[in-house]
Amino acid sequence: MKRIAVYPGSFDPVTYGHVDIVRRATALFDHVIIAVTTNQGKPSTFPIDERLTMLRQALRGLPRVTVEAFEGLLVHYLQARKARIVIRGLRAISDFEYEFQMALMNRHMAPQVETVFLMPDERYTYLSSSLVKEIARLGGVVAAFVPRSVSPYLTRLKNP
Ligand code: PNS
Repeated sequence: MKRIAVYPGSFDPVTYGHVDIVRRATALFDHVIIAVTTNQGKPSTFPIDERLTMLRQALRGLPRVTVEAFEGLLVHYLQARKARIVIRGLRAISDFEYEFQMALMNRHMAPQVETVFLMPDERYTYLSSSLVKEIARLGGVVAAFVPRSVSPYLTRLKNP
């Protein structure tokens, strides 16, 4: 049986922290599906097709990885993909409460689902898509935080 893991998120946009988590997941699982959706709790900056494009460019060359969009509940999507592993990155203790809540809620709805938390390289523990967007809007340099193909999308956010 192939071990399929799903890494869900809004990826708005993908950062080097996300790429680091995908690399770690590919070392552990046979196939990693990056599942992109819109977080009901925060409106997206980039439309879903752009987020998918940025991810596909950033992850090009990584074997056994696919990127796709989904709508609705994650547990329903997992069922449709016949997957029971969810990957989430944990950067700091501040991530923990939200992640713990989601993992247990998903477990309640689908007891067969396990959430596996991976820690990114410590270089990325302070990195978030929101901060990167704020830096870009205010004219800062984001090259150290996002894959090269993402930078032009962020440049568009710059305040006039
Ligand atoms: O990258 P994010 O925004 O932290 O990812 C959050 C995401 C997309 C994983 C979460 O909002 C989610 O799973 N959304 C799908 C809808 C769902 O299943 N909601 C119930 C979660 S317990």
